[in-house]
Amino acid sequence: MNFLRCTDITAGDSSSSSGAIREGDCVIVYEGINTMKAVYVTAKGRFDNRFGIFNHKSWIGKPYGSKVTSDSGHGGWVMLLRPTPELWTQVLRHRTQILYLADISMIVMHLDLQPGSVVLESGTGSGSLTHSLVRAVAPRGHVHTFEFHAGRAEDATGEFKQHGLSKLVTVMQRNIEEQGFPETLHGGADAIFLDLPAPHKVVPSAAACLKPNGRFCAFSPCIEQVQRTTEALSSSGFTDVITYECLLREYDVHRGLVYTGVELERPQPKRPRRDPKPSTFAAAEQGISEQPREEASASAAEESAPTEASVKVEPPAEAATTGFSMQQGSDTSGLEEEKAGISGTGTDSSGGEGQPPAGATAEAVKPPLGAEVGKLEQQQQLTPLGVGGLGVRQALRMVHCQPAREARGHTGYLTFARKFVCG
Ligand SMILES: C[S@@+](CC[C@H](N)C(=O)[O-])C[C@H]1O[C@@H](n2cnc3c(N)ncnc32)[C@H](O)[C@@H]1O
Repeated sequence: MNFLRCTDITAGDSSSSSGAIREGDCVIVYEGINTMKAVYVTAKGRFDNRFGIFNHKSWIGKPYGSKVTSDSGHGGWVMLLRPTPELWTQVLRHRTQILYLADISMIVMHLDLQPGSVVLESGTGSGSLTHSLVRAVAPRGHVHTFEFHAGRAEDATGEFKQHGLSKLVTVMQRNIEEQGFPETLHGGADAIFLDLPAPHKVVPSAAACLKPNGRFCAFSPCIEQVQRTTEALSSSGFTDVITYECLLREYDVHRGLVYTGVELERPQPKRPRRDPKPSTFAAAEQGISEQPREEASASAAEESAPTEASVKVEPPAEAATTGFSMQQGSDTSGLEEEKAGISGTGTDSSGGEGQPPAGATAEAVKPPLGAEVGKLEQQQQLTPLGVGGLGVRQALRMVHCQPAREARGHTGYLTFARKFVCG
């Protein structure tokens, strides 16, 4: 299995390191940026989706990253991606709430994990974080993960085995809040991570398990949990206690046709400057008068013409000669390009990047237009743009940036601490 291909854990396993898909492998089937599934490859297996029927048989031996077309002949396709902890977090079956990329990245960095580290984790939950912990400590380290729910502990054990991680992770069923970590682990951990309802109860046991300069982290959804944990950390001799709320703000960035909302001058074709302008100093020496104040400020204003969006404005090249008339159809290709681009930014939940679902007509699967572009098209019908120049609003193609509407909000607080050993 190849969750760890970036490390030397696969050394000696030539078929795994060659990058070819084998029977038994976990493959991430990519239909679109928001539509991926984990599939275990079997000789007789079949993957069905709206793009067709795919027999696993034809995947075996293909390199990871291959684009494969459906066996049902509709021209649909999927991509077969190599599993990674990042992808696994996006596709795993949720047995509990899980940690996502932003928190996981913070945890792995702040716990200072590296190959060879020994980590204690509780609870295991769905194993989302555990996969990243294991990859960080591979190939010589170890993750001991504790879960009190028997079914979850069993499922996690099976999954780690299936993913070829058994040598690097041990799952134990244990009530960590009541019993603490086993004494056999005292003094042996480089880092401890807790995602439990009452992490403060585990702090004394964590203190006993950490090596000198070991790192501690607890994830808690509520600030009251943070308060109790930090109190317990201080009482147990931890230092450098710090709490973060990790919020990720995603931006939609795409090139689109938009009204600027300001009156811009008709773009002029650039004329090559014949002689380099003498500098003010040189001009003074040569007796050439300085540029008049008004003219200077006008050109400065032109250079920094305010636009409503803080983005680069790119009038189409033909604007100067055609008067930038969208209704003459001079720029429809650009608009089409944007429609496709919008579906690719992740706002289109249909996922399949414009490929036809089995049996569907091209019209039926046309990606939905972004609300803004649709509105602009309507306005365009009402406001002829045949004349450029001052006083006329203009539609321009520009790179448009705005916070994504579906940004992930509060998930929890991460409290980190360090355990020094006092002489
Ligand atoms: C939110 S989940 C952890 C999710 C995990 N961090 C992930 O990314 O998939 C919390 C887990 O802690 C387990 N748990 C709760 N109390 C526990 C305890 N006292 N001892 C051990 N595990 C416990 C729960 O059964 C649950 O599976």
